[in-house]
Amino acid sequence: MAISPLSKVSFSDREFLDIAGRVERETGIMMKLSKKDMMYARLVKRLKALNLETFNDYLLLLSSRQGVGEMAFLINSMTTNHTLFFREDHHFDHLIKTVCPVKRGLSIWSCGCSSGQEPYSLALSLAANNTENAARSIRILATDLDSNVLAHGMKGQYSLDLLPQIPNAYFEKGLIRKNSTCLEMAPLIKSMVRFDQLNIIKPWTLREQLDVIFCRNMLIYFDHDLQSKIISQFCDVLQLGGYLYLGHSESVRNKNLPLKMVGRTIYQKVAP
Ligand SMILES: C[S@@+](CC[C@H](N)C(=O)[O-])C[C@H]1O[C@@H](n2cnc3c(N)ncnc32)[C@H](O)[C@@H]1O
Repeated sequence: MAISPLSKVSFSDREFLDIAGRVERETGIMMKLSKKDMMYARLVKRLKALNLETFNDYLLLLSSRQGVGEMAFLINSMTTNHTLFFREDHHFDHLIKTVCPVKRGLSIWSCGCSSGQEPYSLALSLAANNTENAARSIRILATDLDSNVLAHGMKGQYSLDLLPQIPNAYFEKGLIRKNSTCLEMAPLIKSMVRFDQLNIIKPWTLREQLDVIFCRNMLIYFDHDLQSKIISQFCDVLQLGGYLYLGHSESVRNKNLPLKMVGRTIYQKVAP
């Protein structure tokens, strides 16, 4: 029997904790009981779309063979993707004023890049400082776990409403106005960014050592041990003297890591 639009599907704490546990094991994202309403709102539509009557049916689906594909849907719907162009803009100022003058080429990772506003903000500010060589000398790897936001980033198109987030200086060379509602990143800006799906809690390797890692507003969803483990992995792929930028409420707690704080949530890799 399909669920009528008005019926409220029951959702027990046990069912919430079961789903939350699966999400945390797969992504690292911790979900306390206070997130129960949010999970309900996001998943109840999914139950209807799948013609399932109860959350228990949904759990049975997740445990079945078909559950592997459903897990990807579940993960996409549980991630928090809020982002902005030039969010925490002091990080971009630091990069331009402190890192660019001493480095010719730059290899950058935007980890947990959401729908692309962060890596494109990097590309816009770096291209404006180095227009001729930007495409050749600056590589920005942008990764996220969520396939929906990655697809958005690859497209590089955003609502015109977001324009006020972008400084005027970058309009002319960096953006194309598609129509009355949409703007698109210029080909040069797009060419500087490569999007890829990566789950940071699963084993991963990179092709090269990096000069800069932006990992902002993702680690807050993980517990402290996992945060420390990931920051330690970042140290392994950062060049000596390279920089790690974290989100405004994140920090490096493990004092044994070869990182020195050099600015507001900015860390530099030093010799151990
Ligand atoms: C709040 S957004 C932050 C976006 C951007 N860095 C910023 O500060 O504006 C957090 C992003 O981390 C991603 N994320 C969460 N868990 C992840 C994981 N295990 N591996 C990779 N990305 C993950 C989410 O999909 C989401 O897009």
